[in-house]
Amino acid sequence: MADSRTMQVVRTVDAIRELVSAARADGCSIGLVPTMGALHHAHVSLMDAARRDCDFTVVSVFVNPTQFGPNEDYERYPRDEAADLSTCRSAGVDAVFLPAVGEMYAPEAVTAVRVAGLTSGLCGAFRPGHFDGVATVVAKLLNIVQPDRAYFGEKDAQQLAVIRRVVIDLDMPTEVVGCPTVREESGLAVSSRNAYLSSAERVRAQSLYAALQAGRARILSGERDAESVIGTMRSVIDPAGSAKVDYVSIVEPATMQPVARIEDPVLLALAVRIGGTRLIDNLTVDPSADSL
Ligand code: PAF
Repeated sequence: MADSRTMQVVRTVDAIRELVSAARADGCSIGLVPTMGALHHAHVSLMDAARRDCDFTVVSVFVNPTQFGPNEDYERYPRDEAADLSTCRSAGVDAVFLPAVGEMYAPEAVTAVRVAGLTSGLCGAFRPGHFDGVATVVAKLLNIVQPDRAYFGEKDAQQLAVIRRVVIDLDMPTEVVGCPTVREESGLAVSSRNAYLSSAERVRAQSLYAALQAGRARILSGERDAESVIGTMRSVIDPAGSAKVDYVSIVEPATMQPVARIEDPVLLALAVRIGGTRLIDNLTVDPSADSL
């Protein structure tokens, strides 16, 4: 809908609701791209998808404190409001919602959304409470904006599965749209946290995608034993470096539960610390449909 002159920037729940109501009254469908800012071209791909599908695109920029653990990077998470607004403007976004923490969380608030099962493994095992924070803030954003569609990257596969579950379980009328992972030429998945990497670490981080590709190749060559494929992937991750592997797992994509034998499509998922930076990546592999 918007051209580059008409993007609106609002900071309160009331104001974004008013903008969305006006757009709806004009017959517009609404797309929401929830983000934590530090916007890069993977976020722009979500905005492009929203603009393709919807008449009025809202981007939220909110570094959500409840999804960071006490020793995580909440304080140092990259923040650059001017750059984010410029990215949104160039992408043709209609409205940006930039709430302060106090606007999203009243001091007396005690309600949270918790998704069982799906959140016990993978990142959930290493980041206690993280997915409660994500589920809660996304539920709040979906309630505030009430979009027809909301857009999330497939790079955060467990997050996407959690959000799909929240929307189904809480009867929310929003369609959750997963968008493909955007990669640099080296294969490194684009992420706001890549900004923490030194140039040497950036090279070492390429081994994450190489490990996923190696796992895929083993499966497509006929290997069906998950532990054996995981062994191959582990051997590829930063073999000469000091990367700390949080996990390398092969899971069923909808439930995120580990599989022992690979007979159906699986998600290869990993989380690795390169220096002080925790990176995640994943790849879906269909053992019957894919070819090398
Ligand atoms: O993926 C993110 O950027 C965040 O986890 C999200 C979905 C915006 C919730 O804070």
